[in-house]
Amino acid sequence: MTFRIFATCNIGDEALERLRQKGWQLEVYDSIEPPPKALVLEKVRSGVDALITTLRDKIDEEVFAAGSASGLKVVAQMAVGFDNIDRAAAGKHEIPFSNTADVLTDATAEWAFLILGCAARKSWPAERMVRDQTWTTWHPWHPWLGDEVSGKTVAVIGTGRIGKSFVKKAVGFDMDVLCYDPYFLDQKFVESMRRVTSVRHQEGLVKRLQQVEYVGFEEALRRADFVTLHVNLTGPGEAEEPTFHLMDERRFEMMKPTAYLVNTSRGPVVDEQALAKALLEGWIAGAALDVFEKEPLPADSPLRDPRLDLKLRLFPHVASAARATRLSPDPDVGMAGRTVQAVIDVLEKRYEGDPKKMPYIVNKEAF
Ligand code: GLV
Repeated sequence: MTFRIFATCNIGDEALERLRQKGWQLEVYDSIEPPPKALVLEKVRSGVDALITTLRDKIDEEVFAAGSASGLKVVAQMAVGFDNIDRAAAGKHEIPFSNTADVLTDATAEWAFLILGCAARKSWPAERMVRDQTWTTWHPWHPWLGDEVSGKTVAVIGTGRIGKSFVKKAVGFDMDVLCYDPYFLDQKFVESMRRVTSVRHQEGLVKRLQQVEYVGFEEALRRADFVTLHVNLTGPGEAEEPTFHLMDERRFEMMKPTAYLVNTSRGPVVDEQALAKALLEGWIAGAALDVFEKEPLPADSPLRDPRLDLKLRLFPHVASAARATRLSPDPDVGMAGRTVQAVIDVLEKRYEGDPKKMPYIVNKEAF
């Protein structure tokens, strides 16, 4: 049996080769930019069996309705986030879709940690001085000082896989951790981390016993030196506690004037106008962002205000952009491998052909 697959992007040749080797017909939209939605619709209407997508493709009711009418069997997304996919529409048309959770957990958490450090220690303006030859001498506090990360308090907002991976890294930096999650308090995880902090203390590796605890959202914001966001993006009506503009003016006002915000989740979780105001008016000390309300960041974004240069680090949505994490054909290692495996599971009717049993399918409730 041969199948037809359309990939909206070249997700990595080694992984895609696994599909080709099966004799399946694979068409790849091999451009850096994503295809227009009209082309995706055209391919779906032409009867492809599987669609490989990235977070840049809007897979909505129109696409699922077209897929339902023309035999689309699976949408395999190369990303853990799937706010670009209309889950209700996928369910209505009983088309399974997958994501790439797990394999990017550590890469994303480590990036959040690294850009937290870049913001706090002002790495980019420091490098720019060397490059611009404006570095003239060593001085105890000129041209500026950064803020230490070690031993500080970090609030981890959202304790799913990535949030928990971040907590493990923060503990290694002698930090106290305030966890917040509106849906599930993983007390077992907190207990494990407390055993780790207790051993570190008993062995004399740290001077004081570090705290790891769940607290309310407001308390987390008020007490933290760093706030890092690890939530899904949900809009009004999509969740009990939608995360759209979770960080708004009111929330920035709760943070310490010496605190930093880190966002590696989804841009619209942060109200960027409010963030720019909070930074300009000194409500918070700085921020590091890997994601934006609109990507790429528009030329007229308030975040481009040159007065924010020293306080704000900006990165182009690259948290998971590490070699093996992105490209490995092994579904236990790489996003590409996992995406391709989801296609294989559905098309070859693995797991008794039951999407509910397939490990990478997200919308199991539809089957
Ligand atoms: C990247 O942002 C992802 O969701 O994988």
